[in-house]
Amino acid sequence: MKIIDFKKNEKFLKQYVSLRNKYANLLLTKKVTLKETKNWIKKAAVEIRGLVQNQELLGVVILYLDKNKEITIFVKKPGRGLGERLLLPIERVARAKKCHTVWARVLTNNIPAQKFFEKYGYKKRKVTGKNFQGKIYRSLIYTKKL
Ligand SMILES: CC(C)(COP(=O)(O)OP(=O)(O)OC[C@H]1O[C@@H](n2cnc3c(N)ncnc32)[C@H](O)[C@@H]1OP(=O)(O)O)[C@@H](O)C(=O)NCCC(=O)NCCS
Repeated sequence: MKIIDFKKNEKFLKQYVSLRNKYANLLLTKKVTLKETKNWIKKAAVEIRGLVQNQELLGVVILYLDKNKEITIFVKKPGRGLGERLLLPIERVARAKKCHTVWARVLTNNIPAQKFFEKYGYKKRKVTGKNFQGKIYRSLIYTKKL
């Protein structure tokens, strides 16, 4: 398994789009196209890494430098330790970029993701609602001091 940087490697973008779109509802993001994703990755103030094995994209982690250091993470096959293999490297990237605190939003009914962030030292800070496509979704905000 290896970690790739999507800003330097476009090869896995198609797989990225399909994985991201699969989780659109959990991540409260609209579905994206390959074309817009290519442009977004070039311009966006993000650090974005993928976990790859045998030409297969197994997971993705994004650090949004412009959204107060939000972390978004999703893997193809949950519960096999892939999340850890992405979270720890992006925290190293965040430290190198002098980010002092990172945060993540998790839906209140997304228990696996809550347990995941808690295992790696993220603290529940508050419950907020997020408007997504005209509906309010309750989510927990987790933060971690690096
Ligand atoms: C959240 C997510 C990235 C975690 O990645 P993962 O590869 O499944 O997690 P790991 O296998 O590395 O698990 C690490 C720890 O998380 C916790 N965890 C993961 N899945 C869990 C589950 N289903 N139930 C309870 N705890 C769970 C456990 O503490 C686990 O440690 P353990 O194996 O020692 O018990 C993954 O579940 C996912 O892609 N979910 C969909 C997208 C999402 O909800 N992202 C979060 C919003 S940003």
